[in-house]
Amino acid sequence: MAHLWSGRFAGDPDADLFAFGSSFRFDRRLFEDDVRGSLAWAGGLARASVLSPADAAAIAHGLQQILEQGSIDPAFVSDVHGDEDVHAFVERELIARIGEAGRRLHTGRSRNEQVAVDLRLYLKRRIPAIQAAIAETIRSLVDLADGAGDALMPSYTHLRRAQPVLVAHFLLSHCTALRRDVDRLGAVLDETDELPLGSGAIAGTSYGIDVHALAAALGFSRIARNSIDVSGDRDFVASFLHAASLGMIHLSRIAEDFILFTSEEFGFFELSDAAATGSSLMPQKKNPDPLELVRGKSGRVIGRLTGWLVSMKGLPAGYNKDLQEDKEALFDAEDTWLGCLRAVSSVVHGMRTNVETTTRAASGLLLATDVADYLVAKGLPFRDAHEVVGALVRRLLQEQRSFDQLSITDWREHSSLFDEDVRAAITPLASIRKKRTPQSTSPEAVAAALAETKEWLSRRT
Ligand code: ARG
Repeated sequence: MAHLWSGRFAGDPDADLFAFGSSFRFDRRLFEDDVRGSLAWAGGLARASVLSPADAAAIAHGLQQILEQGSIDPAFVSDVHGDEDVHAFVERELIARIGEAGRRLHTGRSRNEQVAVDLRLYLKRRIPAIQAAIAETIRSLVDLADGAGDALMPSYTHLRRAQPVLVAHFLLSHCTALRRDVDRLGAVLDETDELPLGSGAIAGTSYGIDVHALAAALGFSRIARNSIDVSGDRDFVASFLHAASLGMIHLSRIAEDFILFTSEEFGFFELSDAAATGSSLMPQKKNPDPLELVRGKSGRVIGRLTGWLVSMKGLPAGYNKDLQEDKEALFDAEDTWLGCLRAVSSVVHGMRTNVETTTRAASGLLLATDVADYLVAKGLPFRDAHEVVGALVRRLLQEQRSFDQLSITDWREHSSLFDEDVRAAITPLASIRKKRTPQSTSPEAVAAALAETKEWLSRRT
């Protein structure tokens, strides 16, 4: 079979080495983007009078037919002809349909820029889908927060009880990180939004292509600055993989929190039966397998990022075949990320908050900071208050008691500043109500944050 570059060679390539270098089995995913890119390129050639109007019309018609056939029959974009890559597939199909005119399409163009434009077009259409999936995950957390109402739970630092918070505040903390992922993808989209065509193989093209018109036709907001840079630039792939890695780290941390908080030891949330699996041996087990898989798969996506950075590191300027490795990294990261987003949404969707358990856990010695704040309000410097309360906590630990079991006499043994009002001041509810800042767990702040998150969600759909 003749390849796109066969002319220079007397013999056929070694079959195994050809298969080794072929990318069609994974870059067929760029089919639609490749045809769109070629449609625009044919338009550019026609505007530059490189193609006759008749040839341009035949090419456009042939490419449209190919696009349609691909969309009604996914099996069409298949390997039966032994094509090297998606570019070869489309060009061969075109020539099969329209003959000689099809052989004029590649004028002034290189696969080096073609693969770059395809990948950019692909990311530009996939990023909004990933952002929508992140928004769905946020929605599932918001629904859980709604269901938790004004339930309290402990917050943790060093995985030790820290201070009482609203359950909704905890859930919104994860929403906040996920919203950064949406924004980060927006930045990747912006980086990707650049037309590489016009760069040729590396030095630019000798035909009078209006690259600005081409950019507009393909929906790019700017054109490339340097043709040498274009042929070797996959920074936008690295940026996407970095966004995917952080996105997966966020999902992994959500998974870890829910693995812990649904365990017998915590019991804060209940996993639905549909989101758990049993043990083949131990009849009592209800395992959070989907969450564990999400946590595990984060390593794989981070591996795709580090692998890709290493592939890029030592490349000389211009296109090098190493760059072909970008696609499997990108597609696998995308699939893994999307799969994990769906898994987390579905697990969270079926989850229930055990309000009694979270509320019980939110009382006790984690009110110590509030006791110190009480003394500060009575005029004691914070450092002194910290010491007074420290001693009080030591005593309570010895006596296995808690603040709410202290009589006013007990309180006063530690400081004469304690009054009757201390009992009402030192409760979990009083603790969250005393918080003042907009990012705090005060009920008003959390209600506003929840409303703002819902408003953000409604703007995205
Ligand atoms: N399949 C190649 C890739 O993914 C397309 C570009 C080929 N260019 C070349 N000069 N071999 O990078």
